[in-house]
Amino acid sequence: MNSKFYVTTPIYYVNDKPHIGHAYTTVLADVLASFHRSMGDDTYFLTGTDEHGQKVENAAAKNGISPQQHADETVVRFQELWKELGITNDDFIRTTEARHKEVVREVLQELYDKGEIYKDEYTGWYCVGCERYFTEKDLVEGKCPDCGREVSALQEPNYFFRMSKYQDWLIDYIKTHPGFIQPAFRANETLGFLKQPLVDLCISRPKARLSWGIELPFDSDYVCYVWFDALINYISAVGYRRNDAEFARRWPARCQLIGKDILNTHSVYWPTMLKAMGIEMPKTIFAHGWWLTGNTKMSKSLGNVVNPREMIGLVGVDAFRYFLMAEMTLGNDASFTKEALLRRYNSDLANDLGNLLSRVVKLTLRAGGVIPAPGESTGNEAEFNAAVESAVSGMRSCLENMKLDQGLAAVLNAVRAGNRYVEQCAPWAMAKNNDTAHLNTVLYTVAANLRKLGVLLAPVMPGKMAELQRVLGGENEVLTIGDLASGNFADPAGRTVLESEPLFPRIQIEEEKAAAPCAKPEKKSKEKAAPAPEAVELVTIDQFCKVKLKTAKVVAAEKLEGADKLLKLKIDIGEAEVRPLVAGVAKYYTPEEIMGKTIVVVSNLQPATIRGAESRGMLLAAKFGKELRLVTVDGDVPAGADIG
Ligand code: ME8
Ligand code: MG
Repeated sequence: MNSKFYVTTPIYYVNDKPHIGHAYTTVLADVLASFHRSMGDDTYFLTGTDEHGQKVENAAAKNGISPQQHADETVVRFQELWKELGITNDDFIRTTEARHKEVVREVLQELYDKGEIYKDEYTGWYCVGCERYFTEKDLVEGKCPDCGREVSALQEPNYFFRMSKYQDWLIDYIKTHPGFIQPAFRANETLGFLKQPLVDLCISRPKARLSWGIELPFDSDYVCYVWFDALINYISAVGYRRNDAEFARRWPARCQLIGKDILNTHSVYWPTMLKAMGIEMPKTIFAHGWWLTGNTKMSKSLGNVVNPREMIGLVGVDAFRYFLMAEMTLGNDASFTKEALLRRYNSDLANDLGNLLSRVVKLTLRAGGVIPAPGESTGNEAEFNAAVESAVSGMRSCLENMKLDQGLAAVLNAVRAGNRYVEQCAPWAMAKNNDTAHLNTVLYTVAANLRKLGVLLAPVMPGKMAELQRVLGGENEVLTIGDLASGNFADPAGRTVLESEPLFPRIQIEEEKAAAPCAKPEKKSKEKAAPAPEAVELVTIDQFCKVKLKTAKVVAAEKLEGADKLLKLKIDIGEAEVRPLVAGVAKYYTPEEIMGKTIVVVSNLQPATIRGAESRGMLLAAKFGKELRLVTVDGDVPAGADIG
């Protein structure tokens, strides 16, 4: 009997531009959903957008359009990014859809009729940014305790949900259901919050102040508070009050993913709302940490958000997904840097996984192209096989315990054991000595194990792992974790491997530095200026002399395809040597303008591959403001002259 797995993400504010924080939660949900599909569970994955409230109304007013129009225009950003990221959600709910609004109104009416909602005078503070009411003592130095912005004083009649009456029940429920709020320290945080008396929740906004919301069915002067509306998406999307069979099939959700920023709304408002409605609690609410830039949270107002599209452009969708999953320990914060992304790409994917695949493919091609049945044991298989088995058997519990990064680390560990195995066995020598009995074992062992590891990585890197299986002769074959568990694993022996491009071509970490005309550290205009260094770092004459500067003549120049900042040059560097050089000057010089110039280059720079093009050397240029000018030499100097 398969179990059910319903996973949700927060529904994101439609007016935000999606950044890697949003991408992270959604990729995580996607990876969990894919794993559970692969294990044969009845899986359902919901995401969507939160479209009512003050922020959307304000943004629309600023653009001079209706809130609905604004939402319709901005929702596309999320939908398109999810497509680009290969997100396999089963549904996308927008809170402005009739199917959602009608359910919210019915819930409100029912709770009102039951006496769970009542009218009273509200006095307190309101934060527009967070769309939340606060009491005097909630404020931190008179500002919003969540975002630190100004709050406004309010006094008005409003409707309240009797949240306070569920306080004791909630405390007891959290204590008796250890997996309900995860990680455990977030459950403790909630219990800490519940030590103070819980107040009733104000769930209405007078239309006079805010009209963009779901009208209360029992008072047309008010709309519903956006959080009360938004949380209901998790059930309105799966048939609550509309399709009992569907609702019973999906609910309770197994895993409701959120960021730690919205813990209280999900660990206090949501459970008490469900309790009042008489609905079962979700199995787990999991709050992950934040992606930080340096030590600060990414946020639009700080101007430090990382654009997922740029990262996809850098390493590809699958590697970006892999990085997000492998780099963050679920529950903790993690810091995002491009360097870490490139480093992990090169080490885990290019050097380890990609390398193991290309080794076995090349060796097999040399031996005729067909994966052989295993021959005699080389005596080295045990460690590699054990590492693979432990990755396979450990994945399920890593998933259940939300330790995805550990599950992936075990897979990479097995990949590394595979590379060690190849090095120990030295199959190239076996091939040379016609030791087919052992060679066959090595080729078979690596191919069979790689196929298994590919299955484990497929939920994270679906495209690349399909390619891996294809290269290993398994085109159009969908292997699942269920197959691995049941031993129903298709034997690779007898399959023809395919000659292929590297799965993860190495990216030169120094790519951008190498392509930059002058090595000036990048400085974001919005960042505060770094404190002045104690002193300029001095170099010795010997250190300086290590840098060999030479004159060079540009003898060919063209745009580098797919890179709008780069030119691909050929330079004459004297003594009849013509070299390739990629330079980041395309914004300032056309190929025609740079052709024939005598420039200055660092001639002994380590070679690099930049966007697939070889580059040997770096040219010098002066940068000032938005301008850039090449360094040239005075008078007629031949190519290859030493500079110093
Ligand atoms: O809060 N690191 O929407 P939202 C990691 N509409 N995750 C991050 C992140 C970061 N720096 N920034 C955002 C809302 N997220 C409400 C939710 S649910 C009924 C209503 C992710 O657009 C994380 O999942 O502000 C966080 O909880 C969510 O985006 C907030 O998205
Ligand atoms: Mg937010």
